[in-house]
This record gives sequence, structure tokens and C-alpha cells, in this order.
Amino acid sequence: MEEARLIAGTAKRIGDFIEGLRAFAREGDKDPFLFTSIDSIIQDALVLCESRFKTYGVSLEVSRIPAGLQIECRAVQITQFILNLITNNFDAVTLLTSKWIKVDVSETPNDVIIAARDAGSGVSEAILSKLFQLFFTTKEVGKRTGLGQSISRGIINDHGGSLEYDATSLNTVFLFKLPKSQTNHLKRKP
Ligand SMILES: Nc1ncnc2c1ncn2[C@@H]1O[C@H](COP(=O)(O)OP(=O)(O)OP(=O)(O)O)[C@@H](O)[C@H]1O
Ligand SMILES: [Mg+2]
Repeated sequence: MEEARLIAGTAKRIGDFIEGLRAFAREGDKDPFLFTSIDSIIQDALVLCESRFKTYGVSLEVSRIPAGLQIECRAVQITQFILNLITNNFDAVTLLTSKWIKVDVSETPNDVIIAARDAGSGVSEAILSKLFQLFFTTKEVGKRTGLGQSISRGIINDHGGSLEYDATSLNTVFLFKLPKSQTNHLKRKP
């Protein structure tokens, strides 16, 4: 049947497209885990987005990062993760009158915690439950792909980290926890 052939052809093209995106997202996933300064990772992410933020009048403040703080990681992936996180903050505030994003870095004995806060008033339970779903987006058609957090989930898993939503805050706050050293995480891996 002609229709069936057309559908099969379209499905194949979509499949190839997704594979292509996955290949792009995998960039950096063969890199070795190296101790890298968290400051330099955040600066790398900021360089990629700060001019866009300026153009749209979005202020981005980064807290003073504890001196010498390092994490054992694939730096390209963590940069991408942070970029995904603050791009979501950016999208959430562009239409608000108060357009601010604050990134705060703190540490516990074993972990680094990166808090990304924005002027938005939180994310609903319904959206949070779909956050990591492939192609889930609430943004207008053609604006975003809904892949950001799906890609981020792979990065979190690779690093033994976690992403939590802080439901106690009046603004939108996501907390990204990352182990300083991979020793325990890699030991757990099969
Ligand atoms: N800081 C935030 N404030 C409000 N909603 C958010 C925030 N971060 C994520 N979301 C919601 O989660 C959805 C999924 O996020 P995700 O990053 O996976 O996709 P996206 O931003 O829509 O597209 P992409 O990241 O591929 O460009 C968003 O569409 C949005 O509804
Ligand atoms: Mg996104």
C-alpha cells in the first residue's frame, strides 16, 4: 500500500534524525573522567549563552564559587548539563517583567551542589513528572525540541549525580548534586 510505504519512509527518516541527535548528544561521553575546576565549567557554559541573555535583558548572577573546588567528571558533559539547565531558566523568565537567574554553588564533604534559580513561580507536578520524557516540551512548536532534560538525565546517570526540584521555594529552583569524586560511583558500576 502506498500510504504504508510513505509512513514507513517517514518513520525511518524520524528514526535517522533521532539517531543523529543522539550522536550529537553523545559528544563527550567517551572522554575520561578528569578532576576539573567547577568554576571553569560554569564559565564555559556562561560564555555560550551570556550574549543572548544580555540581548533579552535577562540578568544572570553566579555566587562566589568555593576556591579550588573540583569535580571528577567529563567536563564537556557537565558544561552541556549546566547549559540545558540555565537555558530552561532563560525560557522561563523571558516573558516575565522580572528577568533574573541565580546560580549558586555549594559543597558538602562528598558532593558539589549547583542550584539554578529563576524568577518563575515554580513548575507544576504534572510537568515535573514528564521532565525527563523524550520530546516533552511545553514551549511553542518549533521553539524547542524537548530533549534538554532527556540528554541531561544520561549525563546525571553517567556521573552518579541527581537533579532535584525544590518544592519549598516560591521561585523555581532545581538542585543538581554531583559527587566530587567518581571512586564510589564507578565502584558501584557493573
Ligand atoms: N526553569 C524552568 N521553569 C519552568 N519550566 C521548566 C523549567 N525547566 C524545565 N521546565 C519545563 O520542562 C520542560 C522540559 O524541559 P526540557 O529542557 O527537557 O525541554 P525544552 O526546554 O522544552 O526543550 P530543549 O531543552 O530541547 O530545548 C520544558 O518545556 C518546561 O515546561
Ligand atoms: Mg530545555
